Amino acid sequence: MKFSTAAIHAGQEPDPSTGAVMTPVFLTSTFAQPELGRDKGYTYSRVANPTRSALEKNIAALEGAAEGAAFASGMAAIDALFRLLSPGDRVIASKHIYGGTYRIATTMYEKLGIYFDFVDARSAESLAAVVTPQTRMIFIESPTNPTMEIADLPMIAGFAQAHGLLSIADNTFATPYLQRPIEFGFDIVMHSVTKYLNGHSDMVGGILVTNNEDIAQRLRYIQKAAGGIMGPFDAWLCLRGTKTLGVRMQRHCENALRIAQWLAEQPAVRMIYYPGLPSHPGYELAKKQMPLGFGGIISFDLGSLERTRTFLKNLKLCVLAESLGGIESLMSHSATMTHAALPREEREALGITDGLVRMSVGIEDADDLIEDLSQALRAR
Ligand SMILES: Cc1ncc(COP(=O)(O)O)c(C=O)c1O
Repeated sequence: MKFSTAAIHAGQEPDPSTGAVMTPVFLTSTFAQPELGRDKGYTYSRVANPTRSALEKNIAALEGAAEGAAFASGMAAIDALFRLLSPGDRVIASKHIYGGTYRIATTMYEKLGIYFDFVDARSAESLAAVVTPQTRMIFIESPTNPTMEIADLPMIAGFAQAHGLLSIADNTFATPYLQRPIEFGFDIVMHSVTKYLNGHSDMVGGILVTNNEDIAQRLRYIQKAAGGIMGPFDAWLCLRGTKTLGVRMQRHCENALRIAQWLAEQPAVRMIYYPGLPSHPGYELAKKQMPLGFGGIISFDLGSLERTRTFLKNLKLCVLAESLGGIESLMSHSATMTHAALPREEREALGITDGLVRMSVGIEDADDLIEDLSQALRAR
């Protein structure tokens, strides 16, 4: 089944009891059992819920995985992932990961005796330099937030296999429409479904998908034991979102490429990060790994906090807000918003200066977006 067909049909069948074509929101905590020791596949909604199951199957199918486990947020999914580890274990993580992932790793898991080696995941040498007999996992993002670094996915998956590590890709920015890490050999794909998969900025959720049966069972156990699961209404909203993922991503990519090309010509823009521009160091790799487009996120540097403040204040259409991946265009200031958890020196070493703005390009008309950016760049 091709991507857009699977997006609409995978994991979903007309409801057997009523014929409802759309998966109902099963707003129930518990399920009647016909007799002792027999159930109809569901017992209690923390363990499994039919709306959540449909979403788990749907996203798993889009990523080329057999199983999925959905959680209350992207961070709850990452928390479940790290619960697969034991004290003394080490994780190699890309130093370009989302600030919240860095925060849970360094402030919560290191206390529990799980250690993280943050490296430049673009180079095999930096991975080789930190791997130890205690290393169990490698966790990366591509493209990264906010400077859109591109990691070599087949290289990382090969490194993980050679060293017996579980490989995990946070595929939130690319989505399975543009890139499927499991096809490159990754074991687990993680998403903040809050972003493109839901796509409408009206819920928060996360998911882990895998083809590894043992890992899938352990994740189900974590859902049941720790309970950080996604509720049925959020699962239903997200299921509605994934149906249009393909068409939305096409438009996000078209708009973003046009806007990036326009921004690159503006004198006020000191630096631009978009993997669809040939000047981006990850351009060639992105073309190979993301054959259908370069995504909807652009970051650009306006040189100083004052210029950035004036620009953001004068925007009329694009909204200053955390998050990304919705149909509407959002602007964020990484240094004070998403990456505030990182010490200044570490932030600046990653290119996250006070003048850096991240734009999540929506699916509005690109002419209107360019007009808004243009007037805000001219404002004094
Ligand atoms: C790349 C990435 N991973 C994980 C997360 C965390 O997801 P959530 O906000 O759904 O908990 C985010 C949130 O911004 C993100 O951008």
